Amino acid sequence: MSYYDQETIEEVRRANDIVDVIKEYVPLKKSGSSYFGLCPFHGEKTPSFSVSPSRQMYHCFGCGASGTVYQFMENYLHLSFPEAVETLANRAGITIQSKELSGEQKRWNERRKQLLAANKDAAVYFYSLLHSDRGEACLEYFKGRGLSDDTMLRFGLGYSDPHSDDLYLYLKKKGYSDDILRESGLFTFSEQYGIRDKFINRAMFPVMDQYSRVVAFGGRVFGDEKPKYLNSPETDIFHKSRELYGLHLARRTRRGYLILCEGYMDVIALHQAGFDCAVASLGTSLTPQQVEVISHITKNVYLSYDSDGAGVNAILRAIPMFQSKGINMRVINMTPYKDPDEFIKAKGADGYQRRIDSAENFFIFEIRQLEKKYDLRDPAEHTAFETETAKKLLTFKIELERENYTDTVCREFDIPKEAMKSLIRKLSADQIIKPDAAKRRSESAPSKDRQKDDPDQMRLLSWIADRPDLFSTVKDYLLPEDFDQGILREIAAQLYEQLEKNGIANPAVIIDSFDEVEDQNRASWIFHENIRSLQDTPKEEKTKAFILTLSRVVRRSYDKRIDSLDPADNGRYDLIRKQKGSLDKIAKLRIADA
Ligand code: UTP
Ligand code: MN
Repeated sequence: MSYYDQETIEEVRRANDIVDVIKEYVPLKKSGSSYFGLCPFHGEKTPSFSVSPSRQMYHCFGCGASGTVYQFMENYLHLSFPEAVETLANRAGITIQSKELSGEQKRWNERRKQLLAANKDAAVYFYSLLHSDRGEACLEYFKGRGLSDDTMLRFGLGYSDPHSDDLYLYLKKKGYSDDILRESGLFTFSEQYGIRDKFINRAMFPVMDQYSRVVAFGGRVFGDEKPKYLNSPETDIFHKSRELYGLHLARRTRRGYLILCEGYMDVIALHQAGFDCAVASLGTSLTPQQVEVISHITKNVYLSYDSDGAGVNAILRAIPMFQSKGINMRVINMTPYKDPDEFIKAKGADGYQRRIDSAENFFIFEIRQLEKKYDLRDPAEHTAFETETAKKLLTFKIELERENYTDTVCREFDIPKEAMKSLIRKLSADQIIKPDAAKRRSESAPSKDRQKDDPDQMRLLSWIADRPDLFSTVKDYLLPEDFDQGILREIAAQLYEQLEKNGIANPAVIIDSFDEVEDQNRASWIFHENIRSLQDTPKEEKTKAFILTLSRVVRRSYDKRIDSLDPADNGRYDLIRKQKGSLDKIAKLRIADA
């Protein structure tokens, strides 16, 4: 595990009751044995966010967000895991010590530290050049584009002058080694000329990661020369596909959504106009990693791309990526202006706000783009358009959602509703839609892996975590090895050990024992399976549900072992007999109240 050892993590957790911690950020009300409030991870009007003092976990029935006090800190305040541990340790007045790092790790950390320091020093250098005599023309350029002093300061804008070794000499004097400078992304290196500054006579835009550390630069020419922007190369501290320009500011927005645009200048202009939630990818099309980063911050995104054809295509590519993460999108229309920067210059913040208010739902946007491909005066093409639209509507798996979209689309595009509905019925009967396309649009879809886990096994594990008294029954029939290999078996093994040793379960410890965030999320999803699937089950029915779940898991685990044996193997018969015996016994179980 990372950085801090298990005991420290556990000690800090014990000192930070999850209800107390979350209450500092989200108003909660007690109801039964849990606390409820409005989910901070998606927009909602009725509370479906619950915090359980006994499990020391939170869970949202609306969007599926769940986790321990650590995941809350990670997701709500956007901290890394070690930072979450440190913050909570501080909160509880505990002094903690990080794990002894290996020599290799120490060298790696030291290198990263130096690369960050070199980039930061470079930013300071560029900034001071901008405000010196030599930076006059550049300062005029920024002012000419409408940037205030305050904005320039907030984004750390600077200037790199025409000399090719200025920055090199400056950093050299500060004591950086050639080795570090070569790796810093700030210089080019050739046999012929040696080390030279990469950015020469450009307006400088430092790129900061989400912790406000300078990791790279973009440098713009003042005129029309090419290339317009020069960017730092990939380094150990800069991975273009992960960073979003402006995120260090936007992640603290209280607007509840992010605006995604294309360029440095768009982000800056939007922030200056008060839209402190604007970010941009860095000259590449949106990547899955960026979508992942965004998904931890908000479930609502406004796309504010350029109004040209490239912008439209970029939107069409972005839509399915956000959808797969259950993120809602609206598309902001910039016409007749080229991009948000020009729009704001012409229409101001109020004008932009009105465009936000009238932004188009992503699906209507998609259909509108589709419509353009057809000549609707031609009956055959008209039919083809309606068929394609029906296919797209069919990808909404939730019926109510599909109906709502059908209504809206028919109204918007003047299609007779009944005809469309019967077309959809026919297509769905023909099973034209492949199952994976349908899955794509399922609401706040849990990731693929979550869908893969066996729901009965999930339910059983979450059940015994909540009700240790049922554990003795379960362990009569199932060992950890009987659970599916992978995360379920791993959880079962840890859970059994806790229950054997202490008589109670500690799901939070198990969740935090996974290194990958994705696994932590999956584990915490698993620990809530019984709450999710049984929330509407009346008390009397629960015992029955428990027995059924147990017998299904037992039956399947035997089935697997039986199938793995050769038909001629005598052991098969043995197993079949044992399976029947176990299932009979389970059917007769007398459990007072599950
Ligand atoms: P734009 O050309 O739309 O830039 O490219 P912009 O930010 O609006 O700049 P201005 O308003 O002309 O000054 C969008 C983004 O693509 C990347 C940059 O990140 C830019 O912000 N880009 C563009 C490059 O990396 N290199 C280029 O040569 C051009
Ligand atoms: Mn622009």
